[in-house]
Amino acid sequence: MSPTRDVPGAGTPEKTSEDDELDRHRRRVLWALPTGLYLIGSRHGEEVNLMTANLVVQVCMEPKLVGVALERDSVTARLVNQGGSFTISLLHRADRDVVRRFVKPVTEVERAPDGAILSMSGHPVTEAGPGRAPVLTAAAGYLVCALSRAEELGSHTLVIGEVVDIGGEPAEAEILRMEDTRMHYGG
Ligand SMILES: Cc1cc2nc3c(=O)[nH]c(=O)nc-3n(C[C@H](O)[C@H](O)[C@H](O)COP(=O)(O)O)c2cc1C
Repeated sequence: MSPTRDVPGAGTPEKTSEDDELDRHRRRVLWALPTGLYLIGSRHGEEVNLMTANLVVQVCMEPKLVGVALERDSVTARLVNQGGSFTISLLHRADRDVVRRFVKPVTEVERAPDGAILSMSGHPVTEAGPGRAPVLTAAAGYLVCALSRAEELGSHTLVIGEVVDIGGEPAEAEILRMEDTRMHYGG
């Protein structure tokens, strides 16, 4: 079944209710793809952000590359492109409420007298890696990635980064996954 029908004489195809049902069905199947739920840290100069994301996956073993799909117009996409790196905080399942605090650009940033970032949106953070992008201090583990390429896909930009630093020991932890929440993203 094609997703759209051509209407004779019309410049754009008309959507039918069958097409709408196909759209909904496709979204439900895409939503069922199991994913984790992470915080992406970014920084350019003194501007920082932390963003909730589930479209995150390792994409190469040698070199160690991780891909993250970022909304094209997001603050994070801009900071990753400008700053050249990003972090991925893996969260404990018990911390699932934290992700709700990072679905809008962060405006509340607490800094030490020397400028080091202490907390964002009320949650303690630590600067990690050469780019000093933030990671959640309570993270079960984290990756620091140096941007190696960015591919404009449409709604999202796929950023691929090489893992240059890691922290934490998440093997024993229960890591937060999308299915631990009632939220959906993607589809
Ligand atoms: C459960 C959930 C998962 C999300 N996953 C992603 C994602 O993978 N990529 C993305 O760009 N935005 C994702 N978002 C949306 C961003 O968290 C939100 O739009 C973000 O604040 C915008 O990015 P910014 O703060 O960098 O401007 C997700 C939101 C939720 C609630």
